[in-house]
Amino acid sequence: MDNAKIREAARHLNQSQSLVVLTGAGVSAESGVPTFRDALTGLWAQFDPQQLATPAAFEANPKLVWDWYEYRRDLVSKVKPNAGHYAIAELEDMLPQVVVITQNIDGLHQAAGSSDVITLHGDITRHKCYANCKGDPTLIDIRKLKWGHEAGPPHCPYCDAFVRPDVVWFTERLPVDALDRAFAVSAKADVMLIVGTSGVVQPAAQMPYRAKRFNGGYLIDVNPDQDALTPIIDLHLDAPSGEILPQVIRAMRTSA
Ligand code: APR
Repeated sequence: MDNAKIREAARHLNQSQSLVVLTGAGVSAESGVPTFRDALTGLWAQFDPQQLATPAAFEANPKLVWDWYEYRRDLVSKVKPNAGHYAIAELEDMLPQVVVITQNIDGLHQAAGSSDVITLHGDITRHKCYANCKGDPTLIDIRKLKWGHEAGPPHCPYCDAFVRPDVVWFTERLPVDALDRAFAVSAKADVMLIVGTSGVVQPAAQMPYRAKRFNGGYLIDVNPDQDALTPIIDLHLDAPSGEILPQVIRAMRTSA
């Protein structure tokens, strides 16, 4: 990687007053988080995501969908944040305002220490009432519930509806508060650090456009490959995030 590019990224980041970090599956690649499709192995290989990740699927077979998420939650519980997640968390100590918007549901930004994370697609480590009986979302801590795990999902302690994972399923709308805030902070971002996203899934892919259009935001993209956002990017760091982001942090410290 060209050192001049790293220094250029560091210079822009050091000047930022309102940084947004937008992340996708790529930031977790070096942690070994299996993607949705990669996790469809063994017993699960016979299923299609549409059979496992929609409200209709849950209504038709709550135990099947619950078991699938238990399995994936178990996979995620065994992985750890990588150097890219830690570098993003470190930015908080160096800059006045850092908000992370992630499409990932693995909770690794929070585990690495990022304190302001907008989870656009939910979080596989959290659960909520299927009826959202006390508002959207009605979060439920399943560690406090007693039920026969082999029977499928537990029941909401308030209304008796099923408990479900707090993730966005196909055909569902994104959480309104998270989406509103993501749009708002993106429109005010002076720098957006985009890490490990193909930039094709909406509405996350709109965030860089908002930063550019509303605030002339400077766009830095960290991705070993080209992606759908490449045409509007100001600076492309074409390397894995776990390798390049710690170098960017070091360059920020030496040039600050
Ligand atoms: N560092 C940085 N980027 C990487 C790395 C890495 N180590 N490894 C892969 N990438 C890049 C890939 O080149 C690709 O452009 O990360 C991107 C991952 O793209 P997707 O798999 O499409 O992930 P994402 O953009 O997060 O997809 C959005 O789609 O499947 C749904 O809900 C799911 O949240 C996901 C959403």
